[in-house]
Formats: sequence, C-alpha cells, structure tokens
Amino acid sequence: MKGLLLAGGYGTRLRPLTFTGNKHMIPVANRPILLYGLEHLRAAGIRRVAIVLGPMHEGIQEAVGDGHHLGLEVTYVHQGAPKGLAHAVACAREFLDGEPFVMYLGDNLLQEGVRPFVATYEASRPDAVIGVTPVSEPRHYGVVELDGDRIVSLEEKPARPKSNLALVGVYLFTSAVFEIIDRLKPSARGELEITEAISGLLKEGHRVVVQRVSGWWKDTGLPADLIEANERVLSSLGPKDLTAEGEVRPGAKVRGLVGVGRGTVVEDGAEIDGPAILGEGVRVGPGTRIGPGTSIGAGGILLGCSIRRSILLDRVRVEGPVRLSDSILGRDVTVRSIRPSETEAQIIVGDSARILV
Ligand code: TTP
Repeated sequence: MKGLLLAGGYGTRLRPLTFTGNKHMIPVANRPILLYGLEHLRAAGIRRVAIVLGPMHEGIQEAVGDGHHLGLEVTYVHQGAPKGLAHAVACAREFLDGEPFVMYLGDNLLQEGVRPFVATYEASRPDAVIGVTPVSEPRHYGVVELDGDRIVSLEEKPARPKSNLALVGVYLFTSAVFEIIDRLKPSARGELEITEAISGLLKEGHRVVVQRVSGWWKDTGLPADLIEANERVLSSLGPKDLTAEGEVRPGAKVRGLVGVGRGTVVEDGAEIDGPAILGEGVRVGPGTRIGPGTSIGAGGILLGCSIRRSILLDRVRVEGPVRLSDSILGRDVTVRSIRPSETEAQIIVGDSARILV
C-alpha cells in the first residue's frame, strides 16, 4: 500500500493568508496541516508516500524533506497546473506503479485517520473505498446517494444535492482507477473529477465500498474552517501531546490543558484558559487573557490583550486592550490598540500586516 498526499491546487480561498508559504503549511495547533495527513498515513502502516505539488509549493519540501523524520519515505510529484484530483492521481502513476494506494487531500483533517479505510480494503479487496459523512451544506462537496450500502449516484458540488452525505478527503484505490481516468474529459469547471472516476469504476462493474466516517472531518478551505479545525485539534490533545518546558510565573493563572513551549514566559497577571498552545519563545504579559481554542506561534508577544479561538502564526505582536476572537494573524503581524474596546474584533490577515485599532 502506498500513500498519495495531495498538496497541489491554487488555494484561492485562503490566498490572503498564504503570502509566504503554501496553504498546506498553515499551522493547526502549531503544526502545518499537511503533517496530520502524513501521520495518519504512517499510522495506517504506509511508508512510501508521494506528495503532489502544484504551482505554489513553497515550504513543503523544506519541512517534509525525504520524510525519514516522520517514519516515511517521501517523494514528490509535480502536477503543474491543478487540473483536478483525478489529474493529480494520473500524474503519480509512475510512483504508484500498480499498487493500491490511499489518497489524502492534504488540507483535510480527519479525526479517525485512514486506518479504517485500509482495514476495509484488506477485508474484501474492492477497487475503491470512499469515505462519507453527513454534512449540513452538501452542495459544497462531492455528494453520494446511497441505497443501503449501494451507491446510486455521485455528484461533484451539485446545485440540488440528492443526499446529505459528503465525500471526505480520503480515498483508497487500486490501479483499476487509471483505465477510467485515462478516458475522463474535463468537467464544466475544467477539472478531471475524482467523483467521475469513481462513477466510472462503478459503471465498469468494479466494486466501490462506502466507509461511513464517524469521527469529525474538516476540509480547511476557508478561514472559518481553519479556526474550527484548530479548536477541535486542540480539544483532542492530551497532556502527553503538550510541552510544559516554558515558565508559568506564580502570579499567572493557567486553567485547562495548555502547552507552554521552551523559552516561553507567562508572566504574573496573565490568564490562560485551555485548550491552548503557546509555541517557543512566546511572551504573555500582565493583563493578557488567552481563551480556549487558541494557538500562538513561536516568538509571539502578547501584552494586555485578550485573544480566544484564534490562530497566530510566528512572531505576532498584539499590544494594548484589544479583544480578538475567531482571528488568524499571519507571520510578523502587529496589532496595536490604545483604547479599550467593548466588543471583540475579528482580524484575518496574511503575513507582515500592521494594524492599529
Ligand atoms: P481544493 O480545496 O478543492 O482546491 P484548491 O486547493 O485549489 O483550493 P481553492 O478551492 O480555494 O482554490 O483542493 C483540495 C485538495 O486537493 C487540496 O489539498 C489541494 C489538492 N489539489 C491537488 O493536489 N491538485 C488539484 O488539481 C486540485 C484541484 C487540488
């Protein structure tokens, strides 16, 4: 079994946040999103993984390298223009070399990982395993209509969805999928659609098994999704996942699970409510309040502000009595305020912005 992690795409919807770096490198609980997928593949016993890169792939190879530090053998496939998920698979044909493979969309987070997909495949050796879960807005996803366990139809982002079951971002295929992809034509949006490849497998009499995903799943295409994913991942961490190498001064209040990175200082008069994570070398000054669902990247400086349910990338400085929630601040952002505010502000901004509120 091989792994294919997709990290191509233009990432249009997150573009404002990715001035310096690819969207798959945006941190969730202070780790690039992409690492979660790689770890899930590893946990399912998969060692050989190819990462599909698109036109903008800054930071990925630098972070993952040959994968040995993650227990993987990682190679890279350049897709060029992102012409669809089925096109990404076709680009990896040589690497996959006839073996079954798990395809993981690199910007997705799946609580239960990919092990259940591999187990389902091992149990009956179908030609594909697809994962579905009920969602409230199916028209944004690939939608699967079922009759019991039988697939009746599959549609990509339908205007009038026939069910509320969305395809999650993990798929397992055998090499049978290549014959189908070879014959696919670009869809109305100009992509080779993986949903059409799956429909093709069914039409040709191949067996496709549906795996119902019970844990949470998040496609992090939009800032609000990233914030929710960050909160969920933080909530799922246990004490052993979090470091306590920094210093919490006696006059600071820390409640719940809070990771405190090396060189970080939580000063007297600061208050933190977990789950939250502070990276290395962060300074949390007096009068600062950090609320649940917040991740602070390395080198952050927080002085007298209040921040909850937010993601701060590295070296962010927030100074003064500003109250932030549901915010994402890129690297090296500075937010300053001089007067107290009655209301919470939401700021979603890419690297190096300077904001005075
Ligand atoms: P999408 O989120 O559907 O597309 P995108 O990354 O271009 O983002 P946006 O819609 O905001 O423009 O992609 C899902 C995942 O698949 C993502 O991890 C990128 C990857 N992908 C490829 O590797 N190749 C492709 O051709 C496409 C379309 C996506």
